[in-house]
Amino acid sequence: MHILGKDTKRVEGRAKVTGKAQYAVDHFPEAALVGFIVQSDIARGKVTAIDIRAAAAAPGVVRVFTHENWPKLAYKLKGGEAKYFRPLDSNEVIYSGQPVALVVASSFEQARHGASLVRPSYDALEPRTKLEARLREAPPPSEKHAKKDRGDVAAGLAAAATSVSEEYVLPIEHHHPMETHGATASWNNGKLTVYDKSQGVYSVRDFLAGVFGIDAKDINIRAPYVGGAFGSSLRPNYYVTLAAVAARELKQPVKLAYTRRQMATGHGYRPYTWQKMTLAADAQGKLTAIRHELIGNSPPNEEYWEDFVNQSRTLYACPNVSTDFRTLVTDLPVPAPMRAPGAVTQMFALESALDELAYKLKIDPLELRLRNYAETDPETGKPFSSKALRECYAEAAKKFGWASRNPEPRSMRQGRYLIGWGMATGTWGAMQQAASLRLRYRADDTVLLQAATTDIGPGTYTVIPMVAAEALGLPLERIHFELGDSRFPHAPQQGGSWTTASVGTAVQEAVERLKEQLAGLLKWKGEVTLQNGVLRAPGQKEVHVAQLLQQRKLKEVVVQGDSKPSAERQKYVLSSHGAQFVEVKVDPMLGLVRVTRVVEAAATGRILNPKAAHSQEMGAVVGALGMALMEETEIDHRYGRMLSSDLSYYHVPVNADILSIDTNFVDEEDKIVNPLGVKGMGELGMVGIPAAVANAVFHATGKRIRRLPITPDKLVEA
Ligand code: MOS
Repeated sequence: MHILGKDTKRVEGRAKVTGKAQYAVDHFPEAALVGFIVQSDIARGKVTAIDIRAAAAAPGVVRVFTHENWPKLAYKLKGGEAKYFRPLDSNEVIYSGQPVALVVASSFEQARHGASLVRPSYDALEPRTKLEARLREAPPPSEKHAKKDRGDVAAGLAAAATSVSEEYVLPIEHHHPMETHGATASWNNGKLTVYDKSQGVYSVRDFLAGVFGIDAKDINIRAPYVGGAFGSSLRPNYYVTLAAVAARELKQPVKLAYTRRQMATGHGYRPYTWQKMTLAADAQGKLTAIRHELIGNSPPNEEYWEDFVNQSRTLYACPNVSTDFRTLVTDLPVPAPMRAPGAVTQMFALESALDELAYKLKIDPLELRLRNYAETDPETGKPFSSKALRECYAEAAKKFGWASRNPEPRSMRQGRYLIGWGMATGTWGAMQQAASLRLRYRADDTVLLQAATTDIGPGTYTVIPMVAAEALGLPLERIHFELGDSRFPHAPQQGGSWTTASVGTAVQEAVERLKEQLAGLLKWKGEVTLQNGVLRAPGQKEVHVAQLLQQRKLKEVVVQGDSKPSAERQKYVLSSHGAQFVEVKVDPMLGLVRVTRVVEAAATGRILNPKAAHSQEMGAVVGALGMALMEETEIDHRYGRMLSSDLSYYHVPVNADILSIDTNFVDEEDKIVNPLGVKGMGELGMVGIPAAVANAVFHATGKRIRRLPITPDKLVEA
């Protein structure tokens, strides 16, 4: 029986579309009080006084918390977490929209009304929110983030036949998942239970243990359903602390959720980045030097960092590379990883610059990439565990029809529209984390799996049981998976596109432990097989597990699979790769860009659920088209305030914006990456797209847009 590799529908789909799935603030509907956050009007300074009298007297209001009456918390936090913003901990204001009070009432409406009556007074300082005006102030990278040059960039530049050196800017973008962030917290005999919108229940558990200075065992975090996150729920955000403290102080469950507008300052965002990319090549197009500078914004209270410059060092073979990543303090909240963090940002610059270089050299952009193909990792010399990028280029180019492209800008027309074709490379690490999973084999040949991973949308609820079903030779319907609960064995946060590689490997381990345990019950030695509820071993009569359990009066056999990345991985570079081709249709009179066609080919190891894999890559493309054409959170620099903080002003693609997306997978057999042979794909699919769109827009119009998003004002022609 083969289950892996077959199109499989989401097992939780029905629960989600019928409203049966319960999200973070759907819990404790009766007993809960409801909180509403009051936010600062200033971006930098101090709260000098805060008048809560009217709010406290408003109907239904139970308590108004401010920094003046907020309890002192233990905050026994280590490392980066020690620097996280602490809500209501002092009167200092470090960004506009910072919580300055929490109003708790019997209903949401009462809490919100009460919140409108809170009157803070401030001592305000001029906010520093304009990054580009202050680029020169960015201090050199800290030792932790400084990277040594490879080779000699000056020599590489001197030896070049031609070069490009351009600046690229990405604005602040927000994740805006459908489910706004929220938590329901309740205490019972010193033990805390929180339903949270989270990508990692153990992270929130351990964080809150530090906040309260209590044993992590006394905290249970649950996130059985998460309505999208895209990185915005990787770190414990401040509302969880607010909800948990309020529930403790008021001795009643408290629910707290952000409004859509509060999402602008409540969980981070893709940081504002300025980049300068210099590429030099010989007349044949061989890269002789890469210099990549990037400056990103960071809050006053911690250094925010992403892996912003590694692709410039590793994607193409080039002997001379220098990268320089700096952060600059702005009076804005801390950014957060967002959909292919670091990678999609730097690849916009690298893959746009490569296109610019291709035009200067008069070499086809795809051919230029092939001439600089990295056969081994240019940084370490290590081999790739697998890298079918060449095959991706070939397959996607063929399906797209790239060979018939006339490179001349404005050479392709359709009536008044200009047509453009662009391409870019995508890449993402094939990561794996330590993970554990509990497997309960029951006397009726059904299996319950439990692990503390979450499923924020990619299909983890479905693919993990598929792995178990395949390993056990049981129909998928007999396997049930419970996740998103810190009472279950440890699994990593859902992020980095590593869940299937990590938790899937734990499933395989668990099945091995199960066979050992069952063989032990029978005192069998040697190789045991288990398929469709039947145990077999050489020289033994086959045994039905269900009968065995019934005979021994056992309801179930419980085992735990523990997995971690293999030592073998260390000898290789492990990445997924892809080729991403885009067609745009530009209306030059209106400056409007439509992406009419996207063809992707991805090499991401073995594909376990093709239906979900296709969906992952489509979602990645849609997110990337948002980045390329629409998404931007503007800041009112007078007040240091995030504008465009609701979905009428923060534009994301809708169905009408999405035309043809053709996703393809190139087979890779990779036994090194992990025993399942899988690589992450969720983020990969978007990495090259914003650059591919900008490259296609150049091909269509002759205009190079180096500042996202590519909005009509940047293209409109008189
Ligand atoms: Mo993703 S940005 O790794 O949640």
